[in-house]
Amino acid sequence: MTFAKITATAHYAPEQVVTNDALSQIMATSDEWIASRTGIRSRHISIDENTSDLATKVGQRLLEQAAFPVEALDFIIVATVSPDGNMPSTASLVQANLGAHNAFAFDLTAACSGFVYALSVADKLIASGAYQNGLVIGAEVLSKVVDWSDRATSVLFGDGAGGVLLQALSDEPLILAESLKSDGSRGMSLTSNLTYPTSPFSEPSQADDLFLKMDGRAIFDFAVRDVPKNILESLVQAELSVDEIDYFLLHQANSRILDKMARKIKTDRQKFLQNMQRYGNTSAASIPIILSESVADGTLKLDGTQKLVLTGFGGGLTWGTLVVKI
Ligand code: ACO
Repeated sequence: MTFAKITATAHYAPEQVVTNDALSQIMATSDEWIASRTGIRSRHISIDENTSDLATKVGQRLLEQAAFPVEALDFIIVATVSPDGNMPSTASLVQANLGAHNAFAFDLTAACSGFVYALSVADKLIASGAYQNGLVIGAEVLSKVVDWSDRATSVLFGDGAGGVLLQALSDEPLILAESLKSDGSRGMSLTSNLTYPTSPFSEPSQADDLFLKMDGRAIFDFAVRDVPKNILESLVQAELSVDEIDYFLLHQANSRILDKMARKIKTDRQKFLQNMQRYGNTSAASIPIILSESVADGTLKLDGTQKLVLTGFGGGLTWGTLVVKI
C-alpha cells in the first residue's frame, strides 16, 4: 500500500497588514484589549483579492516548489467558510486558474477544523489507490464575512491561505491516528451566512443573517473542555506519549486557549507553535499557514523524522486531531 506524503507546503496572505492600533482608529477598541485577551497584534486584510485568489497563489507556490507538473494533479480540496460563492466552488476556480485539467475539485466546509478534515479525506483518497496527487488548501477572506460594526468579533479574524501538496510516495502512513468530531446541537454558538426560504410559497420568516456571529464565552469553554480530551484520545490511539510529539499545531484562535490546552495535556507551551499575533484567526487557513511558515523557517522538516499533532476546532461545532509523521 502506498501512503500520502506531504512533499511541499506554502502559504500566502494579502499584502495589507492592519494593526490593533489601526483598528482602534475605526472602532472603540485598543491594542491592550485585543492583545491581552487574544494574543493578536495584527492581521492581513484583503483589499481586492477573493478567497480563490489566495488559494490559487498557494497552489502556484506548491507546484513551483515541488517542480510538480500541474496535469498530474488528481484532486484539489479547498477548506473554507468564506468561499467566493456556493457555485462554482472555490476549488473549481483554483482548478481553472492553475489549469489543472485532470483534477476534480471541491470545497469542504468544517469551519476552523476544515484543513484537518480535508487532510484526512485527502489521505484516504490516496490510500484507496484511486488517486495519487492532490492539493489540500485552507483559504479564507473572513474580512468579507465579519460584521465590521461588531468590535467583539471583527478584531479577531484575518485573511490568508495555506496548503500542502500530497503525493502517493510513502510506504509509511502520514496519519498515525485521528479523531474527527462534530456536535451540531451546539452549532448556533458560531454562525455565518444563515439563509431562509423566500420563495412565493414560503411563509414570511426570519431575515437572512449573513455576518459571522459568535458566543465567545461558549466557544472558549468548548475549546478548552473538549479539545484537550480529543488530543489525548488521539495520542492513546497512536500509542504515543505527549513527550514523543515534536510540535503541536493547533487552530490559531486565541493564545489564552493555547495556554490552557498546554496545561491540560501537560506539555511544554513552547511546543505549541503560534503565529496568531501576526494573522489573527484565519479559520481553515490557520493550521496550513503555520505549518508552511514553520517548514520555511526550519522548525519543521518534511523528512519523515518529526511527529506532529494537528488540531482544529470551531464552527459546527467541529473539532478534530490528526497525529501525523511528516
Ligand atoms: N475592544 C474593547 N472592548 C471590547 C471589545 C473590543 N474589541 N470586544 C468586546 N469588548 C468589551 C465588551 O463589550 C465587554 O464590555 P462590558 O464588560 O462593558 O460589557 C467586555 O469587553 C468583555 O467582553 P467579553 O466578550 O465578555 O470578553 P471576553 O473576556 O469573553 O473575551 C473573547 C472575548 C476574546 C472573544 C473570548 O471570549 C474568546 O477568545 N472566545 C473564544 C473565541 C474563539 O476562540 N473563537 C475562535 C474559535 S471558532 C473560530 O475560529 C471561527
